[in-house]
Amino acid sequence: MAVNAARKWWQTAVIYEVYPRSFADVSGDGVGDLAGVTSKLDYIANTLGVDAIWLCPFYPSPQVDFGYDVSDFTAVDPVYGTLGDWDTLVREAHGRGLRVIIDYIPNHSSDQHPWFTGSRSSRDHPRRGWYVWADPAPGGGPPSNWTSEMGGSAWQFDAATGQYYLRSFHPEQPDLNWRSPALRDAMLGVLGFWLSHGADGIRIDVAHMLAKHPRFADNPVREQPLRNLTDRQHPDFDTQEHLNDRLQPEVHEYLAMMRHVLDDWSRRTGRERVAMAEVEVMPWDTWSRFFGQRDDGVQLPFNFQLIEAEWSPAALAASIEGQEAALPLGAWPNYVLQNHDRPRLATRLGREHVRNAAMLLLTLRGTPTLYYGEELGLGDLPAARDRWLDPLGRDESRAPMPWTSGSGGGFGPAGVSSWLPPYPDLGTVSVEAQLRDPGSVLNLYRSLIALRQASPALLAGSYETVRAASACLCYLRSTDEQQVLVALNLGPGRAEVELPRLGRVLLDTYGRCEQAPRTHLDLPPYSGAIVELDLSQRS
Ligand code: GLC
Repeated sequence: MAVNAARKWWQTAVIYEVYPRSFADVSGDGVGDLAGVTSKLDYIANTLGVDAIWLCPFYPSPQVDFGYDVSDFTAVDPVYGTLGDWDTLVREAHGRGLRVIIDYIPNHSSDQHPWFTGSRSSRDHPRRGWYVWADPAPGGGPPSNWTSEMGGSAWQFDAATGQYYLRSFHPEQPDLNWRSPALRDAMLGVLGFWLSHGADGIRIDVAHMLAKHPRFADNPVREQPLRNLTDRQHPDFDTQEHLNDRLQPEVHEYLAMMRHVLDDWSRRTGRERVAMAEVEVMPWDTWSRFFGQRDDGVQLPFNFQLIEAEWSPAALAASIEGQEAALPLGAWPNYVLQNHDRPRLATRLGREHVRNAAMLLLTLRGTPTLYYGEELGLGDLPAARDRWLDPLGRDESRAPMPWTSGSGGGFGPAGVSSWLPPYPDLGTVSVEAQLRDPGSVLNLYRSLIALRQASPALLAGSYETVRAASACLCYLRSTDEQQVLVALNLGPGRAEVELPRLGRVLLDTYGRCEQAPRTHLDLPPYSGAIVELDLSQRS
């Protein structure tokens, strides 16, 4: 039996996030496009060997929030190409066995969307109720104290109609009102549109925000400021507890409606569709509700806890065990270390941790999602504040993918300047340079992905922490047929690890394997190894 026969495709998949603006530019305007993604499918499917891509937004947009402000949910922005380019991308991806997941943005649109221009034109407009409108507070001013993720009040006054509209992000991103059945129908129709165009699933943007308190009750003010050093997106987390502007119980009803559409398409076409969801870091019991009550929620609610966790064996083990304990029966775990909103890992933790991070992410029990360039060990590309295009500075982790070592890094046609500057050290960080170097980070990712896909224990085995102390995190992944020990030395000194039984090294973080059986490991600083244990010795 094939190692993954009993599992669903998204349980055995490695998912790869592609930020289309920054991946590859075929049209030569300095901005990446869908044809660019298509041109790199061989790299994604064969060189790297992942199973699915999640494409960040490519819909028409004024680009205030780089595509997360959508002015037409069922079209392609000319900057990224045409609907025909999308169809080609999907066909070519499927031809290589690669699934394509789209970014679905149900919480808000652009203020340029015709739905909103209609809605704001008069209080009586049939689409007034498609957005969240409210009268000023009795004494004047915003209807509640809710704050925006971009800073300041989340309410925007509209002088023409004398009401405020809610915008949890930029003023140009009005929140859609999921309490309106007509809006829900329209947004579920958007979903059907992309599924009919071949999408294999959706990544739901800010899924936790979909339902707000019906009377806009104030959020409690925080007495103790909450410090969140890794997250650029929530300057407001310091000031208030977001109790009423998100996470209302109806969120789960709306997600179940989306799931219903996906399941319907899965049944009709015999191809299973998946929902991933962006949900902010929250207590485990709140997070686990996103799976739904009877597997009618999202299959992969992003687990961002490892991004927030301290990089120590104890904290990582606690986080991994936290997810394992919180999973509803039959639900499947997932992990992620980077994305387009966060500092890249090499910057957040330091370059010395990149290899162990790769080994950790790709050997845990659960679906891993990589962010483009993660496989190259890229750090952020710092830019002076006055050069930031994104007010939160997220440009720094969205630099053009470095494909070749020549000038411009092969991102687009020669001589074209990319929308953000290229990496300066292309001779060492580029795909071209790293493919030539057997010991590169890219080659480590390739080996880890291939090993994971071939290993029953890594794909589907149980998880058990065996050591989380003295700089070492060691865990077992086991099935009846295979047992693997993963040992990671997170510290700056050498570390000895006794093996529970004889074992042989399948792969270490330098990309090496070793046939000879051994009884212990002697791990250099910041290094790790995957060891297959000899099951014939099992007591
Ligand atoms: C999500 C996206 C982020 C965007 C925000 C508003 O958090 O990942 O990039 O700014 O939603 O859509």
